[in-house]
Amino acid sequence: MDSIIVRGNGPLKGQIPIAGAKNACLALMPATLLSEEPLTLTNAPRLSDIRTMTELLASLGAEVTALQDGKVLAASCHGEINPVADYDIVRKMRASNLVLGPLLARLGHAVVSLPGGCAIGARPMDIHIDALAALGAEIELKEGYLHANARGGLKGAVHEMRFASVGATENFLMAAVLAKGTSVLKNAAREPEIVDLAKCLRAMGAQIEGEGTSDITIEGVDRLHGATHPVVTDRIELGTYMLAPAICGGEVECLGGRIDLIESFCEKLDGAGISVEQTHTGIKVSRKNGRVRAVDVVTEPFPGFPTDLQAQMMALLCTAEGTSVLEEKIFENRFMHAPELVRMGAKIEVHGGHATVHGVEKLKGARVMATDLRASVSLILAALAAEGETMVSRVYHLDRGYERVEEKLSAVGAKIERVKGD
Ligand code: UD1
Repeated sequence: MDSIIVRGNGPLKGQIPIAGAKNACLALMPATLLSEEPLTLTNAPRLSDIRTMTELLASLGAEVTALQDGKVLAASCHGEINPVADYDIVRKMRASNLVLGPLLARLGHAVVSLPGGCAIGARPMDIHIDALAALGAEIELKEGYLHANARGGLKGAVHEMRFASVGATENFLMAAVLAKGTSVLKNAAREPEIVDLAKCLRAMGAQIEGEGTSDITIEGVDRLHGATHPVVTDRIELGTYMLAPAICGGEVECLGGRIDLIESFCEKLDGAGISVEQTHTGIKVSRKNGRVRAVDVVTEPFPGFPTDLQAQMMALLCTAEGTSVLEEKIFENRFMHAPELVRMGAKIEVHGGHATVHGVEKLKGARVMATDLRASVSLILAALAAEGETMVSRVYHLDRGYERVEEKLSAVGAKIERVKGD
């Protein structure tokens, strides 16, 4: 298994290009199942999770071809469709559950294994099931697989979710676009990735209104056609790289970055004493002299502070002046990075969903282990400003969500390299 070695050093300077959003792309790719005509996604990120979704769609009978070095995905699904999403692929990634809605809409039935994914809590499927059941699907769990049937076709309905689940909103949208009549999803998730999916579905001929708000209205249509759609910027990759100069000092411009994608995160950086500025080409972040100030953080659905940036923010707060409290409200068990940061000299106490971080002046390099996608990058960020050398092992998690992390950080002056393992 590969490791990443980081030698802590001084200020960073330069530009980092931000890729298309992994989480948007993972929802956009299954939309190809909704039409016989081709769907082309530009600005796609080059990540192992995207390859897993490609493999899953291929197993269902769709073809996804990576063009321009993987930046463009040409998808099409005109032949026979296999309704079974097998455990062997689904277990690699929870987002595989996003084929459930489109398969049901196109075929009237689907058999999808319960997913795996990051080890960050129970992550059940009840909200997805309730949302699709509202559209008339009958769903049963048999031997680890969800068997979904809508014999007479899906029918539009008004449904309110008990929690604004991102994945369940995406599944509902992709099912309702081909249902008979009007659907309204209440308490829908408002994340930018939902807005991006709605835009793409509209380009394919769907009738959707209200995305980005808590109420989304969908008027079902008989068929969807092909389209070309650019994947929205990855706000989590963006926030992660914005933290690099915040942690080490210096000035970095994240190309393609938009403050409206991560406003609550930018507010916290501002509170910590980091300067954030929207430019014509991206977001410029700089930290001058002096220590970062402690800030409290609560993770919430969009537009709140994203859970996917909590671990990285903790890495920053480890060396802040004062005590910060981070509250994780989206996932249970999402502080696995804390004991690893403690190995680097951080002072962190975790009690249930709260982590209290007492800022220390400096972290020290150590051997640490990546436990999930965002945790692994938080260790790299912490290592950038730590004294000495840090070796982060089990970085395969990192490759699920960050393309060319060593290249991007080296380009702004970080001392980081990958060591190939077996
Ligand atoms: C998506 C993102 C993930 C991000 C998360 C929250 C993708 C591919 N992944 O995940 O990176 O961390 O949003 O912003 O887009 N829940 C249930 N029952 C359900 C569904 C969810 O209880 O049926 C719970 C989950 O266990 C979790 C919370 O709801 O505690 C949030 O989950 P959800 O919004 O569905 O996240 P994902 O779509 O899985």
